[in-house]
Amino acid sequence: MRFDIFTLFPNLFAGTFDESIIQRARASGLVEIEIHDIRASAHDKHHTTDDTPYAGGGGMVMKPEPIFASVEGVYGDALRGAQTIILLTPQGRTFTQAVARELAQQPRIGLICGRYEGVDERVREHLATDEISIGDYVLSGGEIAAMVIVDAVTRLLPGALGDPLAPDKDSHAEGLLEGPHYTRPAEFRGWRVPDVLLSGHHGEVARWRRQESLRRTLARRPDLLRTAALSEEDRRYLQDLGWTGA
Ligand code: ADE
Repeated sequence: MRFDIFTLFPNLFAGTFDESIIQRARASGLVEIEIHDIRASAHDKHHTTDDTPYAGGGGMVMKPEPIFASVEGVYGDALRGAQTIILLTPQGRTFTQAVARELAQQPRIGLICGRYEGVDERVREHLATDEISIGDYVLSGGEIAAMVIVDAVTRLLPGALGDPLAPDKDSHAEGLLEGPHYTRPAEFRGWRVPDVLLSGHHGEVARWRRQESLRRTLARRPDLLRTAALSEEDRRYLQDLGWTGA
C-alpha cells in the first residue's frame, strides 16, 4: 500500500515513520510513504501557498493552485481513475478503528494536510474524495492527523505485526476495550499478578480476559457496549455488574 502525504511542513514527519512497526513495514515493502512539499508546487516568485479570505474574515486560507498542482503532479494520469484523496480537517468524519480497517483495503491513499484557517473550498469539492477528523479538537494542522492515520492503518496490513492475530485482539477491534496486561515478575512491590494468569487453565484465562474487557468497557466507555458484539453470557455478566443496557 502507498501513502502520499501533501504538506507545507515536510520536516514535521522526520523520524515519525523511521522507527518500530512502520519502519519495518517500509523496509519489507509492505508500505510506501512519500512526503510531498506543497510549496514546491507554488510557482510564483515567492512560492505563495496562502492568501487572505475573500470578503474578509481574518486568518489565511490555503490557495488551491499549489495543492492541485502538487497532487496532480504526483498522481498524474492515475487521478482519472478512482482514488482515495483525504483532506484532514476537524470538519471531516471521525476517524475510528472501523475507518482504519476500511482504509487498509485501499492500494493507495493521498492525505492533504490543511493549515491556517482553512483550505480553499475548491480543494474539498473537486480534489478531495473524503474528509477525516481525528477527533473533536483543533490541531495546528493536519500533519499529526496524517501520522495517526498512517500508523493505525499500517499496523492493520497483513504481515505488519509479528502476531498475525494481534490486530483482532486490540482495544476497539471487537468494539470493546482490552483488559489488563501483565508480565514478569509475578510479584512487584507486593502487587501480585492475578492468580488465574499463572494457573495454566486456558479456558479460565480466556473467560477472565473477556470479563475484564467487559468490566473495563463498562467502567470507562459504556457507550461502546451499545454496538459491541455481545453473547448471552457477556450480557449476564454485565447485568451482574449493574449494566442496564439491553
Ligand atoms: N486539522 C486540525 N484539526 C484536525 C483534526 N482534529 N483532525 C484532522 N485534521 C485536523
